[in-house]
Amino acid sequence: MKLLLLGKTGQVGWELQRSLAPLGELVALDSKSTEGHADFRDPERVAQTVLALRPDVIVNAAAHTAVDKAESEPELARTLNAIAPGAIAQAAQEVGALMVHYSTDYVFDGSGERPWQEDDATGPLSVYGRTKLEGEQLIAAHCPKHLVFRTSWVYAARGGNFAKTMLRLAKERERLTVINDQFGAPTGAELLADVTAHAIRDTLRDPAKAGLYHLAAGGETTWHGYARFVLEQAEAAGVELKAGPAMIDAVPTSAFPTPAKRPHNSRLSTIKLQSSFGLKLPPWQAGVARMLHETL
Ligand SMILES: NC(=O)c1ccc[n+]([C@@H]2O[C@H](COP(=O)([O-])OP(=O)(O)OC[C@H]3O[C@@H](n4cnc5c(N)ncnc54)[C@H](OP(=O)(O)O)[C@@H]3O)[C@@H](O)[C@H]2O)c1
Repeated sequence: MKLLLLGKTGQVGWELQRSLAPLGELVALDSKSTEGHADFRDPERVAQTVLALRPDVIVNAAAHTAVDKAESEPELARTLNAIAPGAIAQAAQEVGALMVHYSTDYVFDGSGERPWQEDDATGPLSVYGRTKLEGEQLIAAHCPKHLVFRTSWVYAARGGNFAKTMLRLAKERERLTVINDQFGAPTGAELLADVTAHAIRDTLRDPAKAGLYHLAAGGETTWHGYARFVLEQAEAAGVELKAGPAMIDAVPTSAFPTPAKRPHNSRLSTIKLQSSFGLKLPPWQAGVARMLHETL
């Protein structure tokens, strides 16, 4: 079996290089690759790469993920998040490949307190959310054999992340200020990559499992709760902090104005994914503790 991974150097792409490797022959590309054109600014050429390689599975981890920047470059965000995935989906359909793609809870308007289900009405608040939603729609229209995973609050051990920023600030300052009115579940790139590999195997055996799924770690928290957990873990590991877990002030989102509006409710119901694929999604704390263990 041949697998094509696009966006191999992002948070999720990096972990997919590991989790997809045992499934078959893996061709992993990014925007600078010379083995095949994979710069999403030219969607037609990325589609040509798919037609030339004729993979059995395409996993797209590339995207315009700079949520605030997208507000001032909506055309580029649309090309990367919608037009290119749509062109890849058309090529996937032509070669008979399964297309795997990631989307976001930002397709919803963030209202209410209930975890979003796959068939809930969408209502994106930002350019990022709108372009990601259009990407989902183009994939569904062009390539019925797809897996689209909507996820939230993604972190990875590699590179910068929210937890590392909190740790650095807690070493420098005596008090921190963190938002406490957005709700979601921090989800590790490792978990996304591992679940993706399981779901690909299952869907290749049973194509009826193709479709749209919500995929996030178990439980829920706020950015404030997330920061407190990080500092508690650091303290327990003997890290010296100027600001301990009790020194984090909780503030509303309005305290940190940003160009793109963030949803208040980023909770995702993962019942469909867990029952379809027979998987259990661990609580968010497990992945964050593991990442911190590797970092501290
Ligand atoms: N991060 C989150 O919190 C979050 C939440 C919900 C959903 N998601 C979704 O999850 C998926 C993976 O996200 P992530 O966190 O792994 O993102 P990421 O770390 O920002 O990685 C994005 C990838 O896209 C690539 N990319 C950017 N411009 C490109 C272009 N013109 N051509 C080809 N590749 C390009 C980047 O490559 P370079 O670095 O080389 O430019 C990078 O490898 C995305 O679909 C995202 O929308 C993410």
